[in-house]
Amino acid sequence: MPIIYLAPIQGTTDRIYRSLFPAYFKGVDLAVMPFIASLKKIKASHSLLIGLHPEHNTGIFSVPQIMSSRAEEFVLLANQLYDMGHKTVNLNLGCPFPMVVRKGRGAGMLCHPDRIEAFLQEALPGMRPAVSVKLRLGLKSSQEILKVIEVFNRFALAGLIIHPRTAAQMYEGEVDLDMFRQCLELSVHPVVYNGDIDSTAKYEMLAARFPTVAGWMIGRGLIGNPFLAEEIKGAPMRPDNEKTAVMRAFHDELLARYSQLLSGEAHLINKMKEIWTYMSNFFKNSEKVRKRVYKTHSLPRYLDAVRKIFDEAGLQ
Ligand SMILES: Cc1cc2nc3c(=O)[nH]c(=O)nc-3n(C[C@H](O)[C@H](O)[C@H](O)COP(=O)(O)O)c2cc1C
Repeated sequence: MPIIYLAPIQGTTDRIYRSLFPAYFKGVDLAVMPFIASLKKIKASHSLLIGLHPEHNTGIFSVPQIMSSRAEEFVLLANQLYDMGHKTVNLNLGCPFPMVVRKGRGAGMLCHPDRIEAFLQEALPGMRPAVSVKLRLGLKSSQEILKVIEVFNRFALAGLIIHPRTAAQMYEGEVDLDMFRQCLELSVHPVVYNGDIDSTAKYEMLAARFPTVAGWMIGRGLIGNPFLAEEIKGAPMRPDNEKTAVMRAFHDELLARYSQLLSGEAHLINKMKEIWTYMSNFFKNSEKVRKRVYKTHSLPRYLDAVRKIFDEAGLQ
């Protein structure tokens, strides 16, 4: 049976989303949390840490992710997470956003294998949790990863999650499956594949091509079709009207949970809109659905738009 990870999507796969997901949808084995950046100093009472506590992260078993280019800060935060009960942390070497890259963090480290080596050399001896890494093929060139994997091979890591695009590609353009194959062959660590899995057919194509992959991470495809993981694992297809009813109940519970947490209508609607960016792909007319939700600026209008979207989908 394949191991399926829910990918971290900042703004969507937060602890509320991950806590409710398995009550409605099956097949996801674990998740990586959206990243938090390391800090020079961080006390155990810091609100950031409270949100990462395993007690507040029920539902899908989730590994915290840290973005850092400073070994000392990384160790400090990782060890605090270990004391809270996290046995593994994930290092983000994939974030492509210019603000992050400019600071030499995320994918900004990929063109500096020497810096990655120095980082791991300094960090790993003092680390209590195991470390896995999520990365892209490179900042500008997909060749960059080959040197980075040679560095990783010299360290004890829990595994790699590879999204086979460069940071310059952001989230679009072709994934480079030939380069992914080279990474798989070169790495001494288990490798998880991540990128563009949005159907069982796509999964089956990739699984046939890469039988030695250790797991499959899915982000946008799972938010758009949360039944995808169970379908990949061979569960019988549920009828469309049943799927729509389950999605509606999931949406309504998400909304209820966020309305308890967030103050003010605007915050609540913005939060839900972020989720609809990808959740709208569940519907046949996804672009229209997205626009209908984005257009709303008050709770009554939001609720009305969502009610109509689900009613219409139920009739199809
Ligand atoms: C809005 C957004 C936020 C993301 N946030 C994170 C993050 O916090 N950490 C991370 O490692 N990847 C993050 N990613 C990347 C995803 O985890 C994943 O690698 C990417 O979406 C490709 O997988 P997919 O095609 O299955 O969605 C983000 C992607 C998007 C679109």
